[in-house]
Amino acid sequence: MSIPPDPNNNVPAVQTFALTRVYGPMVALNALNLTVNRGDLFGFIGSNGAGKTTTLRILATFLAPSAGTAQVLGHDVVRDADAVRHVIGYMPDFFGVYKDMEVTEYLDFFGACYKIPSAQREKTVNDVLELVGLSEKKGALIGALSRGMQQRLGLARVLIHDPQVLLLDEPASGLDPRARIEMMAILQELQKMGKTVIISSHILSELETLCNRVAIIEKGKLIYTGPAQGMRDQMAVGRVFWVKIIGDETRAVELLKARPEVNQVEHTEGRLKVTLNDHETDPGCVAETLVHGGLKLIGLEEEELGLEEVFMRVTRGETQ
Ligand SMILES: Nc1ncnc2c1ncn2[C@@H]1O[C@H](COP(=O)(O)OP(=O)(O)O)[C@@H](O)[C@H]1O
Ligand SMILES: [Mg+2]
Repeated sequence: MSIPPDPNNNVPAVQTFALTRVYGPMVALNALNLTVNRGDLFGFIGSNGAGKTTTLRILATFLAPSAGTAQVLGHDVVRDADAVRHVIGYMPDFFGVYKDMEVTEYLDFFGACYKIPSAQREKTVNDVLELVGLSEKKGALIGALSRGMQQRLGLARVLIHDPQVLLLDEPASGLDPRARIEMMAILQELQKMGKTVIISSHILSELETLCNRVAIIEKGKLIYTGPAQGMRDQMAVGRVFWVKIIGDETRAVELLKARPEVNQVEHTEGRLKVTLNDHETDPGCVAETLVHGGLKLIGLEEEELGLEEVFMRVTRGETQ
């Protein structure tokens, strides 16, 4: 006797087809086509108001699309909403915490909501606490936990029913650098366990190194999706350096502009802003040019490329 094939075995973790959401006259999501493969640690990047929360809320079945469709592991978010809810863990951008509850009580409560039998719940609660590094805090009051710990408890809560796909809306926002790193490490651990993790952020660099794939959206439209590593090259985003020299700055600008690796040089506030042609270009050429030109280099600092800058360049590229 042959086992019938699982009809959902080969479908991606998440797929949206021309997904659209309007709020009155405002188009928050504009025909978004997105694919997230199983096992991805997927970065969903966009500035404030880009449509990240709207997308995640639709995938979590909390918000209906105005047009288009979305599927999670092959289940339609509107028609098969119950099936979707079983396979996802959704952590909203803001969630209230029950400050006067103990950590274990809180998770036990959500375990009961998911109808995990009481005999099994203690182990489940212990397992998720272990996973998020809060085993030591079992008896603590939630109100006494640090923000980073509360955020990890929020993550523990959405793991309680062992969902395959995690939808995490800016889980690292408002955390200090150390708490962010701890959160990111847990997400990598979840990916290793075979889960699909979708994390949104408005900080490009935060997800660029963490995720294997990313999508960038702006004003409800997809502007890039693909491997996180190749993103800057694909968008022809060159590195930007701030240079400080002692000597003739006009001459420095001329020398740098003559280099084929250099795309642009601007002279502002006693510093030079040097944009290289692409992400691969060796920044050593900047220092070399200046020093050979007899100028004294006293500062060379790479600019952290912000999302706005990336968007500007991408948009410029489209209109050319
Ligand atoms: N309930 C709502 N009513 C009206 N406009 C909304 C509502 N929710 C979101 N928006 C608008 O939709 C756009 C996308 O918002 P959102 O999905 O929250 O973006 P993001 O999470 O990327 O910051 C924004 O312009 C926002 O103001
Ligand atoms: Mg949001």
